[in-house]
Amino acid sequence: MEGTQEVKDGAGRESSAGDAISTVLLVFAMQAEAMPLVQTLNLTEDDEPSIFPKALPWKKYSGTHEGLTVHVVVPGKDLKLGVDSVGTVPVSMLTYASIVSLHPDLIINAGTAGGFRAKGAAIGDVFVATQFANHDRRIPVPVFDEYGIGTLAATPIPNLVKALELKEGKLSTGNSLDMTPQDEEIIKANDATIKDMEGAAVAYVANLLAVPLIAMKAVTDIVDGDKPTVEEFLGNMSRAAAALSATIPRVLEYVNAKSISNL
Ligand code: ADE
Repeated sequence: MEGTQEVKDGAGRESSAGDAISTVLLVFAMQAEAMPLVQTLNLTEDDEPSIFPKALPWKKYSGTHEGLTVHVVVPGKDLKLGVDSVGTVPVSMLTYASIVSLHPDLIINAGTAGGFRAKGAAIGDVFVATQFANHDRRIPVPVFDEYGIGTLAATPIPNLVKALELKEGKLSTGNSLDMTPQDEEIIKANDATIKDMEGAAVAYVANLLAVPLIAMKAVTDIVDGDKPTVEEFLGNMSRAAAALSATIPRVLEYVNAKSISNL
């Protein structure tokens, strides 16, 4: 295509990195993380019929921001317990179904994370992930060990990071809010600045389907600090969500109509 640059992904497939971005899919795990942004962007929840099967708790909010089509999806409440469906399984399914149905040019996985003070993280910081890896998939068999960690590089966005003066760091993902000594060892080996419960799963799906991904994570708790994680996480959730809803519109304005290779 004229004026576009051919870009190949890790598997050597051509991606649409040269095309102008017109549709962005934002994937959140928790309703409370997403709602301030949904309100800021004045997005509206889907009327029936949903793009998702009727039985599912998944929700989609859509609208436009300065001409850019924006969809926010959340996995909704666990059918049995009524809490947000956090963790890697719900978000993988949601991301897959949303990509297949909505054909986004770019995915943003936004949410909260624990941050490591020793790596420069502070409460309320919004980090862009430069790399994704897992820390709770231990498979001590040759090559499967590397598959378990599942390291993936993030889509490079140097101009965006510079223009918006965003902090960057590597992200490590696991299905627990707390951290066992074994998790800690692997998180350190992953060289992570932030830890969450979804990022590497979204990266896995985005990579499979060759859709560019940015992960933006606001720090709710300091993992190597002296306060209990749960207390800090719950206490700083609304501050983190507010930080995301302030930063993400600026990101959307920056990416609007640009090509991925120019970000
Ligand atoms: N989300 C917010 N804080 C977190 C932590 N400490 N670990 C995993 N996910 C988180």
